[in-house]
Amino acid sequence: MIRTRILSSGHYLPEKILTNHDLEKMVDTTHDWIVQRTGIEQRHVAAEDETTSDMAIAAARQALENANLNGADIDGVIVATATPDRAFPSVAIAVQAALGVGNGPAFDLSAACSGFVYGLSTADALIRSGQAKRLLLIGAEKFSSIIDWNDRRTCVLFGDGAGAVVLEACEGVGTNADQGVLSSHLHADGSYQEMLYVDAETQFINMNGPEVFKFAVNSMSKIVKQTLDAVGMEEKDIDWLIPHQANIRIIEATAKKLKMPMEQVVVTVHKHGNTSAASIPLALYTALSNNQLSRGDLILFEALGGGFTWSSALVRY
Ligand code: ACO
Repeated sequence: MIRTRILSSGHYLPEKILTNHDLEKMVDTTHDWIVQRTGIEQRHVAAEDETTSDMAIAAARQALENANLNGADIDGVIVATATPDRAFPSVAIAVQAALGVGNGPAFDLSAACSGFVYGLSTADALIRSGQAKRLLLIGAEKFSSIIDWNDRRTCVLFGDGAGAVVLEACEGVGTNADQGVLSSHLHADGSYQEMLYVDAETQFINMNGPEVFKFAVNSMSKIVKQTLDAVGMEEKDIDWLIPHQANIRIIEATAKKLKMPMEQVVVTVHKHGNTSAASIPLALYTALSNNQLSRGDLILFEALGGGFTWSSALVRY
């Protein structure tokens, strides 16, 4: 049977770093408050003229280089983003043109912070149905453009960046020993729209932090069980948890429910802040660069975002 495996990854982080101490000078906050509540110490912020497309292209270019491939070797592009440069054409179209990707599908996917896992599941469906052999999947965000820098409740949480993977079809035998995506699950509940949204008038993020926190912890443990049950596996089979990087306390609570020691959890939130759809591919890239992951390891990805949307994927690397 056809499986979808992760061939390579790439990343891009803007040059400018904004520390908690920098934020102390902008709003009524402290480094200690931010670290205690979120684990975040710093975040990268894009230059004014740097777009989500620029970041997506840079991350995708590196993923191609790491796979020794050219754009022409790729069939299509999916970009998970909540902060596209413009309504259309999509960021994916900009990536396709810049890197010379073939004339397969190119589209953006909007699922806020769960966008990358939504994209992974969608790419897996395209590849397994034979519509594409190799796809670029990118998470790219410029959240600095939708943040009210005078609102201390939200401006301390987010960062900019992009992460990319090259996905390709491979042959599996249909067991859990196969390389590639083994199980993925996508969910949404629109009755929570007002908990986390971009205000249509101000174009700034609004969030009910405590409600997002509660929902995240509950939904993550449920979806993890669903993802493992679907393939008859257990928590102890997971080698690595790569969660959406919103808040260290949410990550620790999820790891605890999975009975996973933090040594098996990839954490980048302290350096990147919450980069929404870019957070998981950035964490994956970081773990690969640190030689934390080996081929054959079982990785669990999970995320919650505005909507609410929530998603998970179990992947043998
Ligand atoms: N510095 C100092 N004080 C602050 C700050 C700040 N940056 N922000 C808020 N406070 C104050 C509040 O005003 C409040 O003060 P008050 O009691 O005098 O009114 C106090 O701190 C407590 O505020 P809470 O919102 O209750 O703080 P909480 O402990 O819940 O932490 C946080 C807030 C960090 C946002 C937490 O709720 C959280 O992490 N929630 C999840 C958020 C998240 O993950 N969002 C991303 C989702 S993904 C996506 O799709 C974008």
